[in-house]
Amino acid sequence: MRRLTRIDEVRSWRRERAGTVGLVPTMGALHAGHLSLVDAARRENDRVVVSVFVNPTQFGPREDYARYPRDLRKDEALLERARADAVFAPSVEAMYPPRMETTVDVGSVAVPLEGERRPGHFRGVATVVLKLLGIATPDRAYFGEKDAQQLAIVRRLVADLDVPVEIRACPIVREPDGLALSSRNAYLSPAERRAAAVLFRALRAAEEAWRAGERHGHALEDAMKTTLQREALARVDYAAVADPVSFRAVDVAEGPVRLLLAVYVGETRLIDNLLLAP
Ligand code: PAJ
Repeated sequence: MRRLTRIDEVRSWRRERAGTVGLVPTMGALHAGHLSLVDAARRENDRVVVSVFVNPTQFGPREDYARYPRDLRKDEALLERARADAVFAPSVEAMYPPRMETTVDVGSVAVPLEGERRPGHFRGVATVVLKLLGIATPDRAYFGEKDAQQLAIVRRLVADLDVPVEIRACPIVREPDGLALSSRNAYLSPAERRAAAVLFRALRAAEEAWRAGERHGHALEDAMKTTLQREALARVDYAAVADPVSFRAVDVAEGPVRLLLAVYVGETRLIDNLLLAP
């Protein structure tokens, strides 16, 4: 597997290879969720390049940029085993030279939920994703449904700016107790780790109510909140029922909706979601 650190190295790697290329953008600290994206890319393309870049512009000033887990050697060993062809691990200076001024602002889909709680986050995500697409010029790029609003934003961005790439969505990979795999799970103490399973239980409680015929957004939200309140180590940031494309709040769920959660378990903020489709 090739390690590429400069943008011009990625461009020549790309130029020298015939066939299709799949890109998997990540911030490293790779786990089975990331590797499921690599597997999908492997199946659907001749070559796979995985970017590993802890993107500073998508972290707020009081967020965990400095302590975000970084271990490129370990990530490379996992990617080698997953049969990725190349890893692109640029420096912050390579991605953000001092002269850089342009940013990408996605519209209304970036406003609620994560957009409201993490000002500037989606601007940082959209800007770095557009850069990565411009650098690697992949045929397909792979994103997890774990970050459902991010996925919707990337789809919006690619459609609005006519980026010639196919966006592929991959299902959420979970632990046996339902906890969605996340690099941030490493922050949890053993007691918090046990408590963190409450997110998936809350999603399932609302899903059960929905299956029993409940269609009111507020009732589905209450089903999630009631479950979450029973876990002493959990504190709800939001529990929402949203349109899966626009991410606007849904009063009455007529078509498909996405249940979305952001919950603090101790000091660690976790997100999860579940699609309800008739
Ligand atoms: P990161 O959090 O490293 O996630 C990289 C990709 O892996 C995202 O598309 C995310 O949705 C997916 N992913 C994470 N956990 C998953 C799980 N349990 N199951 C399935 N997929 C999962 O998301 C980012 O990085 C960044 O915002 C990035 C897009 C790389 C831009 O900086």
